[in-house]
Amino acid sequence: MDKNYWKGIYSKQSEGEQPSLFARYIAETHDIEGKGIIELGCGNGRDAIFFANANAQVTALDQCDNIIELLNYRYRTVENLNFKCADFTCLDDNNKYDIVYSRFTLHSISKKQEEKVTSWAFRNLNPNGRLCIEVRGQKNEIYQVGTPIDGEPDAFILNDHYRRFIHFESFCKELNSLGFKLDYAKEQRGFAPYKGTDETYIRIVASK
Ligand SMILES: C[S@@+](CC[C@H](N)C(=O)[O-])C[C@H]1O[C@@H](n2cnc3c(N)ncnc32)[C@H](O)[C@@H]1O
Repeated sequence: MDKNYWKGIYSKQSEGEQPSLFARYIAETHDIEGKGIIELGCGNGRDAIFFANANAQVTALDQCDNIIELLNYRYRTVENLNFKCADFTCLDDNNKYDIVYSRFTLHSISKKQEEKVTSWAFRNLNPNGRLCIEVRGQKNEIYQVGTPIDGEPDAFILNDHYRRFIHFESFCKELNSLGFKLDYAKEQRGFAPYKGTDETYIRIVASK
C-alpha cells in the first residue's frame, strides 16, 4: 500500500538523518549487541544503521526498491547490516530474530495484514525475543481526518496517503492472546516530537 507515495519521498531523500527516539529507547533499555534485529519498513534506514552501529545483526526491509538499492550500495561494506526490498506482510518463517522492530509502519497496512504480521513476529522471535512497535493510534491528532475507506474501519486517506489508526487497548489484548507479555505499553505524547509538534503515539515493547 502507498508504495508510490514512499518511492516519491525517497527519490528526494538526503543523507544524515538522526535515529528516532524509539530506536534510542530500545538500545538504552535492551542489550542489542550481537542480537538479530529485523526492521519492518525501514524507510531511509536511519534506525537500522543506528542498530548496526551498536553491533546488532540487522536485516532491514522496505517495499521501495529505490531506497533499498541506495542503502545497499551505501552500506555495502557493513557486514552486520543488510537491506532487502520486501513486503513485510508476507514473510516466510526461515529465520529467527531477537527483536522485530516496526516504527510507523503498522498503520500503513490493513487490519488483516496487521494480524498476519504480529503472528509472524511471534513465530519468528527467539524465546525471550521482543516485538517493538511505535504506531499511530486512535488518540493521534489526525485520527478521523481525511476520507474514510469503505469496509476498513479506522482507515483514512489524507493527502493521498493511507493510514489506519490502531485501537490501543484492543491491540494490547490481541498481543496478549498471541502469547506476548507487555513489558511496556503506552499511548501518549513525547515519543516522537517532530518540527515543533508533539503528537500522541502508541509505543509497545512485548516479549515472547
Ligand atoms: C512512515 S515510514 C517509516 C520509516 C521508518 N520506520 C522510520 O521510522 O523512519 C513507513 C515505511 O514503511 C514502508 N512500508 C509500508 N508498508 C510496507 C510493507 N507492506 N512492506 C514493506 N515496507 C512497507 C514504507 O515504504 C515506508 O518506507
